[in-house]
Amino acid sequence: MSPKVAGGPRPIIIDTDPGQDDAIAILAALASPEIEVLGITAVAGNVPLELTARNSLILVELAGRPDVPVFAGCDRPLRRELVTAEHVHGKTGIDGADLPEPSTALQPQHAVDWMIETLRAAGDREVTICPVGPMTNVATVLETAPDTARHIREIVCMGGGFFGGGNTTPTAEFNVFVDPDAAQIVLHCGAPITMLPLDVTHKALMTAAWIDQLRALGSRTGEAAAGMLDFYERFDVDKYGMSGGPLHDPNVIAYLLRPDLYRGRLCNVEVETASSLTLGMTVVDWWNVTDRPPNCQFITEVDSDGFYELLLDLLARLP
Ligand code: BDR
Ligand code: CA
Repeated sequence: MSPKVAGGPRPIIIDTDPGQDDAIAILAALASPEIEVLGITAVAGNVPLELTARNSLILVELAGRPDVPVFAGCDRPLRRELVTAEHVHGKTGIDGADLPEPSTALQPQHAVDWMIETLRAAGDREVTICPVGPMTNVATVLETAPDTARHIREIVCMGGGFFGGGNTTPTAEFNVFVDPDAAQIVLHCGAPITMLPLDVTHKALMTAAWIDQLRALGSRTGEAAAGMLDFYERFDVDKYGMSGGPLHDPNVIAYLLRPDLYRGRLCNVEVETASSLTLGMTVVDWWNVTDRPPNCQFITEVDSDGFYELLLDLLARLP
């Protein structure tokens, strides 16, 4: 990685399992002049790796950014069987829209090897990692090459949930539930971590009017985003009786660009990796009742209107 000019765009890696909400996160990041996406690393999660990798290629194509390299990573969690979520995201993971065929291929290197190489070539605290799926790739990087942690500026991830419970079991959120061992490794890597859990994503619900605004952009990205979100939102509205679906993963990108839209607390967060009842639960010491050291900024509040205005603004920049 070449040295960055101070004040230039923030270099990030998006680690993802698209997923319609991952798709919007990727598109928003690619649209922002304040962010430089060094690469997209796919992981198994919402759908198997073969599809999340292909979906990532489709999304760089849709954004008109086939120059952004896409790497395939781990095809299963560290120590468990893969659990997928086709019932939420459809058979492909990004059902709901007519999407372009990718004109580029996956990079030949494994995502984990590329991340290690990229981090080692970066300066101290230079690269931000944005995991928006199970954290298998990131944990593998940190386990294989613990020296890479000092090159990480921040890990800003979507995952977990505490006050409002889980969306996959009563106590576990999907990304952490799928690979709890990986999430626990990441939480102990020593780099600064910000977590955007269900407690915050469930406070910023999409509205039909907002999806209509996306469609009204009149661009191929606006049309595709609206189609994907119409499909995706149905699940949460039916399941939780919400007025609109939460758009989880783009909160990570919005947080990078506008941290002032969010509020949370630096505290200790641990992941349950043993109990069959609460496997994958993020246990948050919100009231500082243990002597466990704080390791994570756990976000609980968002300015929902600000979030959706920012996203619309970003997506409007794409073809
Ligand atoms: C998370 O799980 C996935 O289904 C979404 O893409 C998001 O990353 C929400 O629990
Ligand atoms: Ca995701």
